[in-house]
Amino acid sequence: MNLSDSRVLDADVATVWAALLNKDVLQTCVPGCKDMTGNPDDGFDATVVQKVGPVKATFKGTVILSEMKEPSSLTLTGEGKGGAAGFAKGGADVRLEPQGDQTILHYDVEAKVGGKLAQLGSRIIDGFAKKMADQFFDNFQQKPVSGEVEGRTLLVQFLREDLHMTGTHVGCDTSQCGACQVHVNGQPVKACTMFAIEADGAEVGTIEGQANADGSLNVIQQAFQDHHGLQCGFCTPGMVMTAAALLKENPTPTEAEVRSYLKGNICRCTGYHNIVKAIMAASGQDVGAIAAE
Ligand code: FES
Ligand code: FES
Repeated sequence: MNLSDSRVLDADVATVWAALLNKDVLQTCVPGCKDMTGNPDDGFDATVVQKVGPVKATFKGTVILSEMKEPSSLTLTGEGKGGAAGFAKGGADVRLEPQGDQTILHYDVEAKVGGKLAQLGSRIIDGFAKKMADQFFDNFQQKPVSGEVEGRTLLVQFLREDLHMTGTHVGCDTSQCGACQVHVNGQPVKACTMFAIEADGAEVGTIEGQANADGSLNVIQQAFQDHHGLQCGFCTPGMVMTAAALLKENPTPTEAEVRSYLKGNICRCTGYHNIVKAIMAASGQDVGAIAAE
């Protein structure tokens, strides 16, 4: 199956090129990607869970970047083995074309499957390949951004007012409440305490990037829902971003450690108990012993 399309990205070519080579960006863009390691020179190892028609499989495979002509074109090639389900492989030739401050990303995708998957018929396979490619480039279109800001613009203002990413909330504007929590180069930061220009060239993670690549809730968001860790929801994006930073630093925190880490986040509704419970559940711990309060 072959597929060609293009997307306009709100960033210059250099920014888009850097994003194409960034493992964390690729991991959040590949639909169903659970894990990715490696680097652009040696390639990336990835684990992807996907359902093709009635067949659900975990594919383990590699993504290689080749034919790199910085910053204008490269080829992404992936091959995954899904055990008894068979295999899937595909490639995308990507070209970047500058258009003012923006970039037009052109792609030509080719996909093949084998084994049991190949018996599903070309209509299902073609539909699956198109869905994967569309989701990947839809996700990627949201990633690299650039813009001009005045020196006095706060990061939280840039996110909300310039980029219209309103998932990051403003509760106090004075670094008290944590509603504006984001990640800057992997570190938790209150976006009302930082100027946008200080994030020039940095990787900024917001609540919009927390969902799984297929749009479903990630494990922390799901735990907040399952354990009633939110009421009005105003503090929730900041809580989720703080929780993600905590679990990255400390994958199985104690209740006391969770409460301590949350000291910069204020919630006016829940009484915190279910938030703590949700974060511990997201870490895979049994929360049955944590009594309701
Ligand atoms: S808005 Fe940033 S800490 Fe409250
Ligand atoms: S859920 Fe309402 S402020 Fe926390």
